[in-house]
Amino acid sequence: MLRLAVRGPLEYDHQTLCVLGHHRRIPPASTALVHQVGDGILVILRSLRQPQYDCLVFFHPREDSTFRAMDTTPEFPTLFIVRHPLVQHKLTILRDRSTPTKIFKELVDEIAMLMAYEATIELTLEQTAVETPLERSMGWRVSGKKLTLVPILRAGLGMVEGVLRLVPGARVGHIGLYRDHDTLEPVDYYFKIPGDVSEREFLILDPMLATGGSAAAAVASLKRAGASRIRFLCIVAAPEGVRRLAASHPDVMIYTASLDRELNAQGYILPGLGDAGDRLFGTR
Ligand code: PRP
Ligand code: URA
Repeated sequence: MLRLAVRGPLEYDHQTLCVLGHHRRIPPASTALVHQVGDGILVILRSLRQPQYDCLVFFHPREDSTFRAMDTTPEFPTLFIVRHPLVQHKLTILRDRSTPTKIFKELVDEIAMLMAYEATIELTLEQTAVETPLERSMGWRVSGKKLTLVPILRAGLGMVEGVLRLVPGARVGHIGLYRDHDTLEPVDYYFKIPGDVSEREFLILDPMLATGGSAAAAVASLKRAGASRIRFLCIVAAPEGVRRLAASHPDVMIYTASLDRELNAQGYILPGLGDAGDRLFGTR
């Protein structure tokens, strides 16, 4: 495997830019972009643990490949698409206009839990002793201050319980934002997060990333309060929103179950799932 230092978007022109080292194993927590090239597969890996390197590139015989296609796209390097079959199955029912509020709420909760598995893959561990019924052994526990979930009100509330089921010790802050219907710009009305901000990892929750205004404003508020380690977890994203969030906060990884086609003139995601807040709380 060759580790390449790449400046700017990678061109598939067979030109090696700079070989920094050889590795036999794929690094942990890497995301793969798979591209078919003749009889082989070009695998481009982006390792979240090694952000100083843009990607790791190697060729792989097609018949040996167990790689899943396209968790990331070259256009949006901070976007990670969770393609797990259960997530995609549940998302399709979520999109269905005939899905009632009760089921919609349950699906948002379940999808959030499944996606949180991916979004927490970078949590750091420390060794800890454990007494099994038979002997003393060593194990692992998540180190540092508690993970902090920050739902954007209202719709983000629907994702909190699902993530908490996976990370029961997480703290929960709240950011109140709504989108002005005419300007589509976010208006903030509430902000409350736990102390020791600079030592915490934050996971912002909102099912919809549309223009990106709410997400960018939420990240900016957290940074103003002193946060530096922030991830954004949504269920459906529009390219416009990903572009805006990545442009204003390139350090924030975005996790989504779908990168949809576009926004309509009213700022709704197409094909999308409609107004997430209204469908969650039955207000329309
Ligand atoms: C929705 C959604 C996001 C925002 C996304 O909330 O939950 O917060 O829109 O749009 P943006 O990316 O263009 O900012 P909304 O403003 O409808 O408020 P609600 O959750 O109270 O319904
Ligand atoms: N907010 C929503 O709830 N849905 C969209 O499609 C866009 C913004």
